[in-house]
Amino acid sequence: MFTHTIVRTPCKNVLNGITSAPELGKPDYEKALRQHAAYIEALKKTGVDVTVLPANDDYPDSCFVEDVAVCTKKCAIITRPGAVTRTGEIAFIEDALRKFYTSIERIQEPGTLEGGDVMMVGDTFYVGRSARTNEEGIRQFAAILEKYGYACVEVPLTEVLHLKTGVNYIENDNMLVSGEFVDKECFKKYNHILIPEGEAYAANCIWMNGTVIVPEGYPGTLKAIQDAGYPTLTVDTSEFRKIDGGLSCLSLRF
Ligand code: GLY
Repeated sequence: MFTHTIVRTPCKNVLNGITSAPELGKPDYEKALRQHAAYIEALKKTGVDVTVLPANDDYPDSCFVEDVAVCTKKCAIITRPGAVTRTGEIAFIEDALRKFYTSIERIQEPGTLEGGDVMMVGDTFYVGRSARTNEEGIRQFAAILEKYGYACVEVPLTEVLHLKTGVNYIENDNMLVSGEFVDKECFKKYNHILIPEGEAYAANCIWMNGTVIVPEGYPGTLKAIQDAGYPTLTVDTSEFRKIDGGLSCLSLRF
């Protein structure tokens, strides 16, 4: 069960966030703030408290707080984002983590690792080797996890930005899978809930204490998750999608 979450308010500069889909246009800032507030409300409905960090205009992507840390039951690991415009974000997360963790570890240069590439399945952490997370980052991450009795499994990525862009574990052996992850050997032991054609963005849902939060506007995915027996909440993330952001990117959950 999760008891805590950390989020960061989107900054005005969110309009300049990194994007692979400029054709979707720039985020509408006021709308992004409203969607972020609704996201916080959805998290609270699942029984967690929410620490809201202030907007940081120096970093357009700083609302995607998931990428700067990995929160386990025993320690927090401050990452080292592979996107150069994001590396400095790590200086602004430690104080918040210190309120909850006595053990804080770090990924060191030349390693890079972003939390969006990390998927926790019990005591195993799957890590995407991506454009943002490199071999050295994974080596360091695996060594840290080993110290705490956790396992690390590397997953090479070819199509997506982050591992959790395309695959997400929703507990009870159930995994939302899309695209390149449908046939991955390492995920075959889980029940696959296939993301329907045309809804790839909705693979990025989050399990929160029994409820699955699903992005609004993806009816096939919503139905598949409900048919698997989960209560759901939906949150509109249209403005974050424009800069490659999804539901998981917007919080740290622990
Ligand atoms: N715009 C989100 C990211 O690229 O990290």
